[in-house]
This record gives sequence, C-alpha cells and structure tokens, in this order.
Amino acid sequence: MSHAGAEATGLSIPRIPRIETLLSQMTPFEKAGQLSQLACHGPADEKTIAAVRDGLVGSFLNAPSLEHRNELQRVAVEESRLGIPLVFGRDVIHGYRTIFPIPLGQGATFDPDLAQKAAAIAAREASETGIDWVFAPMVDIARDPRWGRIAEGCGEDPLLTSQLGAAMVRGFQGTGGPHRVAACAKHYVGYGACEAGKEYNTTWIPERLLREVYLRSFQACVDAGVLTVMTGFNDLNGVPATGNEFILRAILKGECGFSGFVVSDWASIREMITHGLCADEPNAALRGISAGVDMDMAGRIYVDHLPGLIESGAVSAALVDDAVRRVLLVKHKLGLFERPYVQPPRQSVAVCEEHRAVAQQVVRESLVLLKNEGGVLPLARMERSIAAVGPLVDDPFEQLGCWAFDGRREDSVTVLTALRARFAGRAEIHFARGLPDCRSTDTTGFEEAARAAERADVTLAFVGENANLSGECRSRAFLDLPGAQQQLLERIARTGRPLVVVVMAGRPLLIEPICSLAKAVLVAWHPGTMGGPGIVDVLSGDVSPSGKLPVTFPRALGQIPIYYAFKNTGRPPGTDHRGIPTGTPLDPVGFETSYLDVDVSPLYPFGFGLSYTTFEYQDFSVSPIKARVGEPVTVRIRVRNTGSVEGVEVVQLYIRDLVASTTRPVRELKAFQRVALKPGESAAMEFALTAADLAFPGRDMKPTTEPGRFDVFVGGNSLAPLGGSFELV
Ligand code: GLC
Repeated sequence: MSHAGAEATGLSIPRIPRIETLLSQMTPFEKAGQLSQLACHGPADEKTIAAVRDGLVGSFLNAPSLEHRNELQRVAVEESRLGIPLVFGRDVIHGYRTIFPIPLGQGATFDPDLAQKAAAIAAREASETGIDWVFAPMVDIARDPRWGRIAEGCGEDPLLTSQLGAAMVRGFQGTGGPHRVAACAKHYVGYGACEAGKEYNTTWIPERLLREVYLRSFQACVDAGVLTVMTGFNDLNGVPATGNEFILRAILKGECGFSGFVVSDWASIREMITHGLCADEPNAALRGISAGVDMDMAGRIYVDHLPGLIESGAVSAALVDDAVRRVLLVKHKLGLFERPYVQPPRQSVAVCEEHRAVAQQVVRESLVLLKNEGGVLPLARMERSIAAVGPLVDDPFEQLGCWAFDGRREDSVTVLTALRARFAGRAEIHFARGLPDCRSTDTTGFEEAARAAERADVTLAFVGENANLSGECRSRAFLDLPGAQQQLLERIARTGRPLVVVVMAGRPLLIEPICSLAKAVLVAWHPGTMGGPGIVDVLSGDVSPSGKLPVTFPRALGQIPIYYAFKNTGRPPGTDHRGIPTGTPLDPVGFETSYLDVDVSPLYPFGFGLSYTTFEYQDFSVSPIKARVGEPVTVRIRVRNTGSVEGVEVVQLYIRDLVASTTRPVRELKAFQRVALKPGESAAMEFALTAADLAFPGRDMKPTTEPGRFDVFVGGNSLAPLGGSFELV
C-alpha cells in the first residue's frame, strides 16, 4: 500500500495525553472495537452487552431510548476495562421531532443562516434523547432527478450546497454548547452521479469533474469543522468509495486536511466483496482500513478481522492507531469522557412553539412560485369560497417527506387545517380529497372534487409524491405525477374554474402537463411538520414567495442529466448567452447541440422563482475592469422592488470564464444574497470576486486562476442577463 502524505495517515492529528495513554493500553481487539458501530434494533441482548463490556463496540446506530442508551453507556464506562464511552448516531436529516422541509427544499431557500438555525434545533431535540452524532448533512451534488436521494441534498450546484452544508454543520455542531452533536458530511464522494439515476449504481467521474463539482461541498464541510464523513456505496471509477485510498487519504485526509473520522455507509466495507474488489472479509477489512475508512458501520468486518490483521502484521499498527485516535478525538471533542450520560430534560423542547415557528419560516422560504397567471395568487380577500383538493391537502404523514423517522403525524399541521384556521369567517373551504393517495387510480372521488371546484372562486390542488417515493432506494424511471393525479387535475380543469396547483415531491417532476392546466404552480417539496401554515402564509399573501429552484426542472425525461452549469460545446444551440448567433456559415441553424423533438432549454432553470412583486436590477458595475490575477474584482448592482407588495429577492451572481486552459461552464454561481425590499425600496448590493472564486482545477488539477475575460451576470435566476465583463491580466 503506498503511504500517502504524513497528514493522510493522521500524523497531523493532535496528540491528547488521555487519548495517547488509552491507545498505548488498548489491545488489538479493543482497537477494533472502537472502530465498530453496531446497529441497534431494540434493547440490546446479553451478547451485545457482553461485547460492550469487552470493549468490542465503539458506537451504536439508533439506540431505541434514552434509558437504553444510558444503560449501554454505563456498561461501557463502568464495566469495560478502559471505560471508553460509546458514541450514539442516528439519521437526523431534516429535523428530529420538528421536521423541517426536506434538504432540497432548504436548498430552495438560498438561506444558509436559516438552515443553520434549523440544524441547531434538530441537534437540540436529538441530543436530549441521547443522540451524540447525526448522519447529516448530505452534501451530494445531484443532477439527475430520477435519483431518489436528490431529496436529501441541496440540489445541483456546488456553491449552494457548500454554503448550506457548512451552515448545517455549524448548526449541528454548534459552538461547543451542551446540545452539540457531531455532524457527518455524506456520502463521500460522487454518489449522486450514479449512472441513469439508478440507486447504488456505478459512477464514472473524471478527477477534473470530481474537483470542479463533487468535492467542493465536502471541502466546505471540512472547513466548517465537520467531525465525521461517511463514504458512499458507489463504485467510483472502478474503486468503490469505501476502499478508495485516493479520495480518502490523498484528498480528504491529505489535501482537505480532514482531522475527524470516516465512517463507512451501512456495511459498505463488506460490500466491497460484492463489488468484486475484495476476495473475502479479511481482505475487505484490510482494504477499508488501508484506504482510510476509520469506522465500520453495521458491517462487523473490523471487529471480526482487524485483530488478526494487526497480529499478522498485514496492517500497520500506525494506521489502526490513526483510525482509533480519530474516533477517540471526536468522543473527546463531544465531551463524552466527561459527560457520558444524558439526563432526561425537565421540560422537553421537542416541537415547542419556538421550533415550530422556525420550521414555518423555513417552509415559507422554501416555496418556489413557478407560474402565476393573472395574479390568481395571492388568494385575494374577495375569495369567498375556496376548494381544497388532492391527496396531499390533508396528509400529516406524507408531507413530512423521506428520512423523517422521528417526526410524528400528530405533530404535523396540514394545509387543510391551516386553510380553515386562516380563512375562518372569511371564506368557505370546500374540501374533497379526490384521490385517497398519490399513487391511487381510484377515480371515484373525482366528481366530489369537481363539485367542490364548481362551488369555489378558486381551487387549490395539492398533488405530488408520497414520502416514500424519494429517499434511499427510491429511484424512478418516470417523473410524472404518480397514480391518477394528472387525471384529477384535468377533471378539475374541465370545470373552467381557476386552478392553483401545489406540488409536494422529493424531486423535480415533469410538470409541463400541470402547468398547462393551472393558472399558478407552487413547488412545496415535502414541507415537514409546519407545511400547512407555511404554505398558507404564502398562498394567502401574508408572505410573498421567495424560493428559488436549487435544481433544474426538465421538459422531458430524455433531457436528463440537465443542469445550468453546462459547457458551451463547439455548436451551442441558437445563439449563445451573449446573443451571438452560432451555427456555421454553411448551415446557419440545425447543426447544433440540440434534440429533434424537444427544446434543449429546461422547463424552469436553476435559480428561478417568482415573487408577488417584481424586482428590477439597475446600476450594474464591475471594477476594476482590468485586474491582476489575485486582485479582487467588485461587482455592484442595485435591486429595486418595482411592485406593490414587499418581497424578498435572492440576488444571484454568475460568471463565465470565456477562455481557459480547460473549457469552462457557460455559467457558474459565485455568490447569492437574499434581500428584503418594500415597494419602491431599493438596495445596493456588492459582491467581491476573489482569485479563489475564479479558480478551477488546472491541467495539473491544482486550483488555478488564469488571466482572460470573464462575463458577469446578476439577476434572479441562472438566465440573468449579461451585466458586464472584466479581464484578469
Ligand atoms: C443508509 C444511508 C445513509 C444512512 C445510513 C444509516 O444506508 O445510505 O445515508 O445514514 O445508512 O442509516
């Protein structure tokens, strides 16, 4: 095995006397134990408790209760030879008891501060039940909505995902307060590039693309101090991520300077046998530890085989000690040596009003208004009668979304409940589900829904996906509305009454058939516990929508993968983004990057979202227009609210590096900022572009900033017009 740099084998990891002493005392079995996480499926049996007592368990996944967690901890601390505390982990992905919008919805807020607040609440609620470590944030970049786990990340853009992921790390890990939990950046790396969007499928990612797109969000989490990283299931360029020394030691522990510990995904060390990389379990153990995976999640590979490998000298003690040191250091940082037990709270903070209020704010900011014809939204005061239909208008469970294990339907507030509360005494609410469930084809409820629509001034239809149609192992080869939902919308539309459609799903769907029927379309993702009130705040006009798409919405399945930061190619479609006609002199059109049967543009682009007001961008300037490489360039713009209601705009700044030693995308998001403006109010925005902002992996794969011209685009979505240009000399 080639020894990567000193830092890659942890020689740069701090030496804490208590940890070094323990390390010197530990047997190979105890070391292997610290590197083993057992899944807990209920109260531990005698065999498991004996393993804890023998120091053969370092961590549990999903302790069933606080009492049980403390009992296992007592055995570890008071009955094992060295008294090393256990660390308890759990999937707390977008909230614990207070469920926030799914991370893709949090991506739509473009609001890192709010995402940090939400994570801190999740940590507070989780830590009081004995959880020390959450397996979040998931910072996989996803450009393929067929992949069910697109729901769990913050979308297609590395900068957006980096800023939100780092904010979530800060929220979970806090500033060392008593409620901090260890965060876990996952799934390292490139898991979202699974071929054909098929779950667990093979990924081929050239190093340049790894560095330009997939690694950045992990670097951001490391820079934010993330204590753990989880490897992905994916075969990465022929070497599964869990056995890939290049990404784990050379890059993560080397270049990125990661000093926490790496945990495998569920039994993904063992799965290297199935991948065909390892012949047997001892070989998988050797491969995993050598590659840089410090802890084995639920695989029993390390605890069964590492002691033998250490004793036979097949694996160097230094490598194993580095892994154990990293695990013990995280336990030390979490204060588990001093405070191994968690006292039940006098007053639980779970789902308290304060937490609900923050969750409602996240819902408000996550909603993306894609269409609003004739100002059908917001629901004006004169609405005397509103029809509320669709399988998701009143489903307290499905609105929680995927990975919401600890959310409870009885805590959820549905849209129907919120509508009735908001419009009590002001408007009649006619409720008709229309379909029992998103996947149902039972159309017997259609007529009741149509009658409700006929009696109403406007019909609100809530359609989309069940929670279990996205998340892990939930890839879909079709992205239409499941079941007979589209038919229900068509039946409602035939009443001729104004139709507003709210789409609750864990991914972009093919919504052109919806948009053709509806006067307004609002994307609500899966909004979580406070989905109802947050959505009604926006539908009613109490709050203007400000969400922006964190992921592209395609016109057709065949366009996938489709994303905004594409390359120009030698024959870009139509005119390029500067309005310069393309095509060759002989064939002015036709021989260009396109399809015969669908427009190459997306249905709705990354960064897009409407407001109830309008914004204008004025006074663009960039200075200096000639800057030396390394000198910051400042972009200024004035944003004005030119409408009649207050709103929040997400100002987005994109660049295009026109000529470089490798081709660059036609747009790259380099900054974004939310700004609240009252009617007529304007704000002067200023963005500094540094050399690092303009850098990309050069031919030598090192971050490079090259001289040349850059176009700058500033606006409310990724198709923002050209503002101006500057040149690096
Ligand atoms: C799952 C997921 C991972 C999760 C882990 C523990 O397979 O891939 O995201 O954190 O196992 O449940």
